[in-house]
Amino acid sequence: MAKVRNLLEITDFSTEEIGDLVDLALNIISDPKLYSEACKGKKLATLFYEPSTRTRLSFTSAMMELGGNVLGFSDAAASSVSKGEVVADTVRVVECFADIIAMRHSKEGAPWVASQYISIPIINAGDGGHSHPTQTLTDMLTIYREKGSFDNLTIGFCGDLLYGRTVHSLAKAMGRYKGIKFVFISPKELRIPAYLRTDIQKKGCEFIEVESIEEAMPMLDVLYMTRVQKERFDSEEVYNRLKDSFILDMPKMQSAKEDMIILHPLPRVNEIAYEVDSDPRACYFRQVLNGKYIRMALIYTLLRWKEEGKFCDEESQTREIPCQNPRCISYTERVQPLYRQADDGTKRCVYCDAVLAEKG
Ligand code: NCD
Repeated sequence: MAKVRNLLEITDFSTEEIGDLVDLALNIISDPKLYSEACKGKKLATLFYEPSTRTRLSFTSAMMELGGNVLGFSDAAASSVSKGEVVADTVRVVECFADIIAMRHSKEGAPWVASQYISIPIINAGDGGHSHPTQTLTDMLTIYREKGSFDNLTIGFCGDLLYGRTVHSLAKAMGRYKGIKFVFISPKELRIPAYLRTDIQKKGCEFIEVESIEEAMPMLDVLYMTRVQKERFDSEEVYNRLKDSFILDMPKMQSAKEDMIILHPLPRVNEIAYEVDSDPRACYFRQVLNGKYIRMALIYTLLRWKEEGKFCDEESQTREIPCQNPRCISYTERVQPLYRQADDGTKRCVYCDAVLAEKG
């Protein structure tokens, strides 16, 4: 059955489609009035089961600037979820009231599950420690506006690369461009997940993993700082030991390129000293504003595609290998355990990307 286009993973969009979104965002920036009624009469539902400031408000403000309306919740405890309602039921209800959904959930793959039950577009606004594709679009619009291209960049990711969903999505996205090199800077305990390392290797993308920011600094065109994701740790003791692994300050900036840019999805906790904010290379507040424009482009595009009948290709999925990742939505909600065959021959859970037991 033909399925409406969603944004669940950044790779749901081809590089050409991302290029079109960036162009559209640039048009919106140069002539916002032209789009002020582009989504008139349409409603966006923001279903946020996890805390958020920027992402939810930027979705809200994006839809308002397109002339549309917004409904939803920012605290699952105030919705029927607190009575035990599953995602599949909640979204079938919300589909009766809205034209498009943005969902954030602590379980990996929750927006994917939602997409199986509805026929309006759904956008993943962050699923556990897995993915955050609209932050990636935000980061990419910022990279494009600051550096003028997506090619030939050395990108350093620093901090919590294990649980940082923004890192996972941005690495997947940027690995598709020419001449990209990654420098992953983290303590051993917070290195990128194994599945992502395999994906990057398969793409033939050059990368190194280091434990010191000083060592990486002179090579970088983009430095992507991240917070250690307290809420994903099982042990507070481990979090406390790792939380201040990296603090970017002006002495460390001395060896950076003059045109290096510093990105951070925010919120910042302690990983960038306030003194860095006034350095022209610090882009993280400009990045927030870009988030609104690219989300305007995304909402407008997904709604237009639905109207024009632009659907996804049918996906080939085989069933019945249960996922063992306790953070996966399929572990706690009654959903079909679906998998996909990855390039490296492993079977991966479609919801959270975990490698499943069987090979071949
Ligand atoms: C990020 C997130 O929620 O993953 N924040 C955001 O959406 N801008 C990063 C974080 O919480 O550290």
